[in-house]
Amino acid sequence: MSFLVSFCIIAFLMTIISILSSSSTKKTQESKVNGPPSYPLIGSILSFNKNRHRLLQWYTELLRLSPSQTITIPLLGNRRTIVTANPENVKYILKTNFFNFPKGKPFTDLLGDLLGQGIFNVDGHSWSSQRKLASHEFSTRSLRSFAFEVLREEVETRIVPVLSAAADDAGSTTVDLQDVLKRFAFDVVCKVSLGWDPDCLDLTRPVNPLAEAFDTAAEISARRATEPLYAVWKVKRVLNVGSERRLREAIETVHELVSDIVRAKKKSLEIGMGQEAKQDLLSRFLAAGHDSDIVRDMVISFIMAGRDTTSAAMTWLFWLLSENDDVERKLLEEVEPLMSVRLGFEELKEMSYMKACLCEAMRLYPPVSWDSKHAANDDVLPDGTHVKKGDKVTYFPYGMGRMENLWGKDCEEFKPNRWFDSEQEITEPVLKPVSPFKFPVFQAGPRVCVGKEMAFMQMKYIVGSVVSRFEIIPVSKHKPVFVPLLTAHMVGGLKVKIKRREVKSHP
Ligand code: HEM
Repeated sequence: MSFLVSFCIIAFLMTIISILSSSSTKKTQESKVNGPPSYPLIGSILSFNKNRHRLLQWYTELLRLSPSQTITIPLLGNRRTIVTANPENVKYILKTNFFNFPKGKPFTDLLGDLLGQGIFNVDGHSWSSQRKLASHEFSTRSLRSFAFEVLREEVETRIVPVLSAAADDAGSTTVDLQDVLKRFAFDVVCKVSLGWDPDCLDLTRPVNPLAEAFDTAAEISARRATEPLYAVWKVKRVLNVGSERRLREAIETVHELVSDIVRAKKKSLEIGMGQEAKQDLLSRFLAAGHDSDIVRDMVISFIMAGRDTTSAAMTWLFWLLSENDDVERKLLEEVEPLMSVRLGFEELKEMSYMKACLCEAMRLYPPVSWDSKHAANDDVLPDGTHVKKGDKVTYFPYGMGRMENLWGKDCEEFKPNRWFDSEQEITEPVLKPVSPFKFPVFQAGPRVCVGKEMAFMQMKYIVGSVVSRFEIIPVSKHKPVFVPLLTAHMVGGLKVKIKRREVKSHP
């Protein structure tokens, strides 16, 4: 009898194992099409957890296997995530059916404590009214020339002297170029947004408290999104423990310091300072009659959006140039004649090879690697993917830059020439128009980056000023590691030696 019972139990267990293993094989085969293996109740949590420290590579591998370059990842306790590298889908999400794909509460919750009601973190009416004002100000000649003067001063009186000092040290000084560019970008964005100078490039002074608090707040807010369970950070926040406690303190510092600047600016506007003092965004937003708290949130959004993006793009470009002598030589051929005159808007517009280099660097290392929306209602994407209300829908510039069907077999290589109509040498190379939905590094559609033109102006000016004067020599021969966070970073910075170039004259 006991033998019969044992036999029945073993037979039963073997049947269960064989059903589970066949369903798992089936799922694995299906996963080659739609995403990672997924099981009832737990979804893809096992493979997600296994890959959570290499999500960029994991998503890219899965997207390459998907015929329509779209994958779906169901996760226990979290909403489904749909990730796409398909330009038709990207266009649908960012433009055609824009209103069905707002950032949504799950996203705005992540950054809400830091960004409040600022443009970067709101949808609907609040977003559209801030967007109108911001787009208007960014299109004015006065803001553009103010930003250009800020840039010129920062380059000539700060970044060039810092690099010159390192070069004069006959190669004994090592500079973290990523850190220098981050400090530079923070100075520029604060001067343009607040009319206030944090003077971060004075390396003898301690790190500016606003810059430090911003760094901490941005990093911890970004890490909230990588928790396997959404509830984890929410519980930590309620209990005010660990990283959430540090986040709260950093946000208090950011809010207090920016509020002080807003108050001081308001006062100076009331007592009628000269035109000079009213050029920055803060003065413009206050002059448009907005309340101090909203203006505080608006400028915090601008600092957030403009601080680490340009520095990330330039850090990767400098590293790529150090690996590609032929590209660097060609860039110098374009830049040197222009640098010998006093650079202005017109000269910057002419730098088409420079623009190709910047785009190519951002194609491979996009400052914003992924960006998510949340479906307001059920929908179907152009490739047939069904979207359910509440799903997280992510477009993925990092993966898109690595899809062979979009960029060819050499998609992993740094080749600025791919941005020109013809690879042949012609007298006046013309940049190819490329769909922003294939290259959504600045996003696209109604919410496209407001600072895009300003960012190109900044990057062209700095890269031109630096490469024409200095040779940048990375200390390590290893390939740097790219981490996404809110804005991408190079792990450990970019440690370089600086050597002065034998150059033509500079103004
Ligand atoms: C290489 C540099 C830059 C890149 C790659 C970049 C990229 C982006 C991306 C992907 C977004 C969409 C983010 C989202 O909606 O979640 C965005 C939005 C935005 N960017 Fe940039 N950005 C850059 C520089 C700047 C600069 C210099 C500024 C301003 C000083 C700026 C201001 C903004 C603002 C205000 C938004 C929000 C627009 C809206 O929601 O309507 N960006 N940017």
